[in-house]
Amino acid sequence: MDSRNQKNCRPFPQQLSGRIRVLGNGPFPVYLVRGDRFSALIEAGISATADEVVRRLDRLGVTPDFIVITHPHGDHLTGIGFLRERYSGIRVLTGEGAAAFLSHPRTTKSIVAEDRHMAAYLAAQGYPVGCTPMEKVPDLEDALICKDGEELDLGGVTLRFLEVRGHSPGNLAVFVPEEKTLLASDCLGFHYSGGGFFPVFFTGYREYMATLDRLESLRPEILGLGHHWFMRTEDAAEAFVLARRSAAGLRERLRDDSRDGETVVAEIVDEFYRDELTLYSRENITNCCRLLIRRSLEEEKECSTNARSISTESFAAGTRRTSMSCRTASGGVRRSSR
Ligand SMILES: [Fe+2]
Repeated sequence: MDSRNQKNCRPFPQQLSGRIRVLGNGPFPVYLVRGDRFSALIEAGISATADEVVRRLDRLGVTPDFIVITHPHGDHLTGIGFLRERYSGIRVLTGEGAAAFLSHPRTTKSIVAEDRHMAAYLAAQGYPVGCTPMEKVPDLEDALICKDGEELDLGGVTLRFLEVRGHSPGNLAVFVPEEKTLLASDCLGFHYSGGGFFPVFFTGYREYMATLDRLESLRPEILGLGHHWFMRTEDAAEAFVLARRSAAGLRERLRDDSRDGETVVAEIVDEFYRDELTLYSRENITNCCRLLIRRSLEEEKECSTNARSISTESFAAGTRRTSMSCRTASGGVRRSSR
């Protein structure tokens, strides 16, 4: 195991702030936010990491009340089955459109395949791997839908949900104002632990860039990413610069490249498919790169966040305050529907 991977294996959980810890591992961090009355997990990890998350929660003496599925890509989702089994009372929160996206047959097939690939990757890298890869993709039929600007009061600490676009349908980022912490999931791209991002503007380039602007304007003191770490203050600010630069640079390059599409795809796969990005299958990242080319070639137009044409499903500040407190969540928040 090289030094980079040793760094990824450093012991979790880590205390991120007074109220927030990181569970899971470097490739699949799961954030725990503890309030005076309730606690919530942000991200579910994958099936192979779920029981390790449970062990850590047990050690902390925490039974989570809520879990936020930031978006319906398998690498942020497949741990939910085991977590639901263990915590029967847990309420699942997600974004509008996530359940419908997840129910598509092609989505489910690719998620199952990628879950196995990711489990094998973790085992090969020396991470503890617990649950066997799932056979059936969990659904989000009973999830509560969080709208932009809605807040969940955990008691002394608040989750503010931000609908974010450009990466995935049904995508949420979570801002914790009391801790000045932004849990951005994949909004900045896939972060390599050695530095830099693989841009992931899968549902729209312009929306992706607008999301970066919006999240950056929150000026988080702590930035939690969907993969490989969290950052503080200056590093967090720098991350937005790098994320924007990597997306703009790739989009410009793809837009201006007149060669045959598959030639370009092969070239950018060779460039980006390295280090931790190999936790996904090469086929998956190849499909991602095809999608990035398509998005780069689109005219300046609105890109549907519910784009059904996505072929890479497995890769995978508003302040409107609502009545979405935990006490009223079941009655005050709409249920998802197909
Ligand atoms: Fe994603």
